[in-house]
Amino acid sequence: MSISAIIAAAGSGERFGAGIPKALIQLADRTLLEHAVSSLAPVADQIIVTTPIGFEKQISELLGDGIVVVTGGATRSASVRNGLAVATGDYVLVHDAARALASTDLATRVIAQLQNGEVAVVPALAVVDTIKVTDSDGFVVSTPDRATLVSIQTPQGFKTSALRDAHASASEATDDAALIEAAGGKVKVIRGEERATKITTPADLNTALSHLGLGKEIRSGIGTDAHAFGEGRDMWLAGLHWPDEQGVEGHSDGDVAAHAICDALFAATGLGDLGSNFGTDRPEYAGASGTRLMQECAALVKKEGFAISNVSVQIIGNRPKIGKRRAEAIAAISSALGGVQVSVSATTTDGMGLTGEGKGIAAIATALVSKQ
Ligand code: CTP
Ligand code: MG
Repeated sequence: MSISAIIAAAGSGERFGAGIPKALIQLADRTLLEHAVSSLAPVADQIIVTTPIGFEKQISELLGDGIVVVTGGATRSASVRNGLAVATGDYVLVHDAARALASTDLATRVIAQLQNGEVAVVPALAVVDTIKVTDSDGFVVSTPDRATLVSIQTPQGFKTSALRDAHASASEATDDAALIEAAGGKVKVIRGEERATKITTPADLNTALSHLGLGKEIRSGIGTDAHAFGEGRDMWLAGLHWPDEQGVEGHSDGDVAAHAICDALFAATGLGDLGSNFGTDRPEYAGASGTRLMQECAALVKKEGFAISNVSVQIIGNRPKIGKRRAEAIAAISSALGGVQVSVSATTTDGMGLTGEGKGIAAIATALVSKQ
């Protein structure tokens, strides 16, 4: 049994809004169209691609020899008809380039049903939303039982002669199976796959990337620090100098907010902690300011391939009062970290514990980082 595959790629991708045909959008290492071709190539004897008018040469060069390129039509159905006109297989798969990641396995399962004698086969997923039929005035007409509804995908498989007949008698539909249905034919539904979902808007590319195992990896981290107040020390906190406040002990400037943030970032990225990166065995950091440590930490995080989404720090102590300088603190931290989103809050502990008794100051921070 010989199989032709028609890949409908003649759409303009209006909703995607890239200004180029959607099939030519890049997803990881290749275009959507190349993804679609590579998953059907192992099972098809002939591959036909319908292109937007004027893109025939570019697409032909992109795909190389052995792919039949035909100009598409004004509608998807018209494009498929142009492909059908040159199809040589006894059976035909009709596929959307926009469902770029549909697997070879799915196509194989469609073909298996055709081998079983089915005339039309469509993959589908159960719908998750309740679907309503509405009228043109915006009122609900009915609510079909969700359990009976499925969401249709491609590749759809057909006996070529049956699909040709269906296209000859009923010309427009959003999928090919609908034309078979209109002609009274039986359409077999098989289990579809999430990765065959259609790419319509730029947001769908993130989902597609995660199907390729290239999604964003998101990680959080937590860090804390505490220092006791010390005589004759300047107070540095959240990257700022606090001239009227008593400072804290420590071999650095004792900026607990900066230290907690660094620890949170190191935790999120699996890079160890403040001690392992800037500890006493790294004399070049002795006495380093909180700002410098945050700068160095951000550089290490970046070098590891992570981007900082945000950091949040809470300062725990009776003083200094943060409120009046909160905006300044946020700006100082954000600038040290390379312009990330920062929040700074403060709390006391109702007179309890070391900071409540006024013996020192502490901070707790969280960080969110991501890696493509
Ligand atoms: N398609 C086609 N010929 C057309 C219209 C659409 O071959 N005249 C193809 C598209 O290239 C796509 C598939 O049919 O692979 C499904 O269509 P859709 O997702 O709607 O893609 P576009 O029409 O390109 O997108 P939009 O509707 O946002 O413009
Ligand atoms: Mg369209």
